[in-house]
Amino acid sequence: MPEERRPENMTRITTPELAEAFINEQIDALRAQIGDKKVLLALSGGVDSSVVAALLIKAVGQQLVCVHVNHGLLRKGEPEQVIDVFRGQMNANLIYVDAVDRFLDKLAGVTDPEQKRHIIGEEFIDVFADEARKLEGVDFLAQGTIWPDILESEGGIKAHHNAGGLPEDIASRFELVEPVKILFKDEVREVGRALGLPSNMVDRQPFPGPGLGVRCPGAITRDRLEAVRESDAILREEFAAAGLAGKVWQYFTVVPDFKSTGVRDGKRTYDWPCIIRAINTTDVMEVTVEHLAPELIDRLVARITTEVPGINRVLFDYTPKPPATVEYE
Ligand code: XMP
Repeated sequence: MPEERRPENMTRITTPELAEAFINEQIDALRAQIGDKKVLLALSGGVDSSVVAALLIKAVGQQLVCVHVNHGLLRKGEPEQVIDVFRGQMNANLIYVDAVDRFLDKLAGVTDPEQKRHIIGEEFIDVFADEARKLEGVDFLAQGTIWPDILESEGGIKAHHNAGGLPEDIASRFELVEPVKILFKDEVREVGRALGLPSNMVDRQPFPGPGLGVRCPGAITRDRLEAVRESDAILREEFAAAGLAGKVWQYFTVVPDFKSTGVRDGKRTYDWPCIIRAINTTDVMEVTVEHLAPELIDRLVARITTEVPGINRVLFDYTPKPPATVEYE
């Protein structure tokens, strides 16, 4: 069985050698726990679930069944990367579920931020549970729980989502497998690097569970969501080109639900603005703003207004937290 608790004197995993040693221990532990049974994993493509998937592939290969749910609120290229890395490069048993219409239809016309989050969370569980019910002979459910999740849940800060809120008929079928639960985030990243995961997966900035849905304030429409996705992709490209990827803690775009007048090729336009937010923090309770170089600002404005349909204006959010939160919803 894997370790239940993080030992108090455990050496922090800060080098590839320490990561290798952890991986080898976990492979033995996972093989002992799982035997010849099957294990199911919801693979979002985030750091924690990706590292769990890569560990399980090494340990039990085809006995792992990964389910990647595309809820339509992922960043540009993410579902493709999950499929390429895990199915293409690691030969994982991966079920890809295109649930885009299902999510966006449910979210149509919903303006309340909490209701949007609720629908996204519930629908995700429904889609995953549907897939789980179709599978036979799966005894284990893997999760990317990490040590801070356990500390926070013990401290009463947030509920530890054991079995991810799955319905009882599903949750009771599985024994949990949590191979990174004694690790801090930086250690999970070190292990991910040692497992050969690409750096843009391992060093990803934080991304909220409801995804781009919270960056498309108010009722989500497909065209405005596309404008969020395209502008986010341009922002990431330009931050990478400017050497800021991995240095700035989090950066993203928001496309609010109002329009303003502009002019393009001598004709009037009436389009959305795109808001850029780039922030730094250590504890997420307090956040400072990254001040961008004038050349970078000019490039972002030029590219986003010419390449993203529906955008005629770019605004920069220089508000710290407090008084603003990081996300808009
Ligand atoms: P706020 O907006 O609360 O965000 O200042 C703080 C950090 O948390 C991330 N965030 C979320 N992460 N599910 C997540 O997994 C969520 O619903 C969620 N909401 C916010 C946010 O991106 C920021 O890094």
